[in-house]
Amino acid sequence: MFKRSDFPAGFTFGAATAAYQIEGHKFGGAGSCHWDTFAATGRNVVRNEDGALACDHYHKWPQDLDLMKDAGFDAYRFSTSWARVMPDGVTINPEGLDFYDRLVDGMVARGLDPYLTLYHWDLPSALADKGGWTNRDTAERFADYADVVLARIGDRVAKTATINEPWCVSWLSHFEGQHAPGLRDIRATARSMHYIQLAHGLGVERLRASGHKNLGVVLNFSEIFPFQDGDERAVEVADAIGNKWFIESIAQGTYPQAALDGLEPHLPQGWQDDMATISTPIDWLGVNYYSRNFVSSAPDTPWPGTQGHEGPLPKTQMGWEIYADGLCHLLTRMARDYVGDLPIVVTENGMAWADEIQNGAVNDVERISYISGHLAAANQAIAQGANLQGFFYWSLLDNFEWSFGYEKRFGIIHVDFDTLKRTPKNSYLALKDQLTK
Ligand code: FCB
Repeated sequence: MFKRSDFPAGFTFGAATAAYQIEGHKFGGAGSCHWDTFAATGRNVVRNEDGALACDHYHKWPQDLDLMKDAGFDAYRFSTSWARVMPDGVTINPEGLDFYDRLVDGMVARGLDPYLTLYHWDLPSALADKGGWTNRDTAERFADYADVVLARIGDRVAKTATINEPWCVSWLSHFEGQHAPGLRDIRATARSMHYIQLAHGLGVERLRASGHKNLGVVLNFSEIFPFQDGDERAVEVADAIGNKWFIESIAQGTYPQAALDGLEPHLPQGWQDDMATISTPIDWLGVNYYSRNFVSSAPDTPWPGTQGHEGPLPKTQMGWEIYADGLCHLLTRMARDYVGDLPIVVTENGMAWADEIQNGAVNDVERISYISGHLAAANQAIAQGANLQGFFYWSLLDNFEWSFGYEKRFGIIHVDFDTLKRTPKNSYLALKDQLTK
């Protein structure tokens, strides 16, 4: 396993979580969010589970932060829930802000740098009612919410990301229907792909004007390969939709033509006027990486006319191929083509496995090897010139894995969802050991 001393001095090691996946949304006056209603609609989530209780981090956070500290981590990536801070999307819930105030104080007291994500998918239902991310107004309201959160905790936050994975917010949720709001509509997709980028830009502009620093965004990427010779055009289209749309608009102020080919007719009028806001400079880039994809062209289907295929490598519990080299390729591509010397942080990387407790322990050797391989790839990217400054494992705890419910376990800490007992897995113990070396 790679150890701390293999990385440059000052490199940040951490673990990541998200509010709706761990907190328990029924506590503390949080308002309904679109994940509550999506989960309440039968067949959207495995076993019809939801985030009402989750890991009860809302009450157990001191124990969870102690576990972060005991592992020797430098930083903790967490998110604030919009629907907790503003139950109707607009009006402040003081209990919500108090919770995050205590949580951030708890991190600082334990020597953990707070890495904040403002939107990790818990859109207030009151805004979903008005069209959610298909409505420009949601992007404006996001900037208000961002300002409210940072006004309270911004003095202690190390780095802030506006949006987590805009591709998931837009394409996965409005074209593939897999996440809330579960739509399959190209017009809604195009609008959400634009307005989520606009929310990011408006958020950065507003926070910068309020004097906040270290502002960035968290994007997810996949390395995409042709299924067969002749599928290069399918790769270009899938790369444009899944990767380039998000980084190119932020770094260069343009959308890739291969995605505009299908989406432009459905974009709101005057979208070009927003590109300056979307590309307002950021201070760092967060990169989430899990796996790679194969695509072929599917000529008889409507745009984008592509189809995904299974790859040959060993897979995680999610069915995702384990391909560590992709992380190195991606980080060097980001530096070379888009962000140059801007600090990059791996904000998520990890794997799910059907972990079980045996004799009081979870011997997750697969995860230890996954982490080791990806840290090696991250290290290689640094050697090749990427200004990578940190690595966050996803996730600290087993948690509510969205439409997969509690079945898919990504944690380095096992959670028994009947008793809520936390049990550090062997991957946690291995990381703890390596972080001292
Ligand atoms: C990412 C999400 C995170 C978690 C992991 C497995 O797409 O940001 O919340 O679901 O995948």
